[in-house]
Amino acid sequence: MSEPVRLQKYLAQCGLASRRKAEQLIADGKISVDGVVVREMGVSIRPGVNLVAYAGKKLVAEERLVYYLLNKPPGYVTTIADPQGRPIVTSLIKASGVRLFPVGRLDLDTEGALILTNDGELAQKIQHPSNETSKSYEALVRGWPGREKLALLERGVVLEGKRTSPASLSILAAKGGNCLVKITIHEGRKRQVKKMFSHIGHPVLHLKRIAYGKLHLDGLPNGAYRKLNPSDLKKIFL
Ligand code: URA
Repeated sequence: MSEPVRLQKYLAQCGLASRRKAEQLIADGKISVDGVVVREMGVSIRPGVNLVAYAGKKLVAEERLVYYLLNKPPGYVTTIADPQGRPIVTSLIKASGVRLFPVGRLDLDTEGALILTNDGELAQKIQHPSNETSKSYEALVRGWPGREKLALLERGVVLEGKRTSPASLSILAAKGGNCLVKITIHEGRKRQVKKMFSHIGHPVLHLKRIAYGKLHLDGLPNGAYRKLNPSDLKKIFL
């Protein structure tokens, strides 16, 4: 449910008047809440729940556009509702006051960078293939893929009848008998990174998204989130 907001603030958010002018409209008995005229100050309403009207006409607030970067923990479903009742990513962002949805998806067991917003246009821009927004991951893969196998993934491999677009890969570290690889892709097919590594015979054991474009997690702890500002948003497309 939306957060309560002072009536005069809500009137301002609706673009009806400045806050001071809104107070005058209230005092003059021009504003009603759920059909009842309100003249006193200090009344709070819930946008989308209470019906606020001016001269009998319903008012709707311009919704604030908000953006968050979450470091998704494993075990959370990337959805706004899960029929199976599992924990969902949107529940991790407290008191945003708006209805958030995730941009793209991370598998249940995948962790890392996930943008949540109420801005449908930006979400579409990030996901649209024509923008080729890059996403970088750290993948712990079984065994040690040689340079040639990584080069195959860099050039593109055919998955389910369609060639993947060029990717960048680099080996970061050896981990026991396994290998930590950084991979940057420019598409968002379902389970794409896992399918790519399975294709070359080195299945993913653990996967973490570390960046959208040049927007990095930058030490954000697992399960934590931060608000994104306009300069952060530009980094997504770099
Ligand atoms: N690729 C995958 O295989 N899984 C993810 O969660 C994200 C990208």
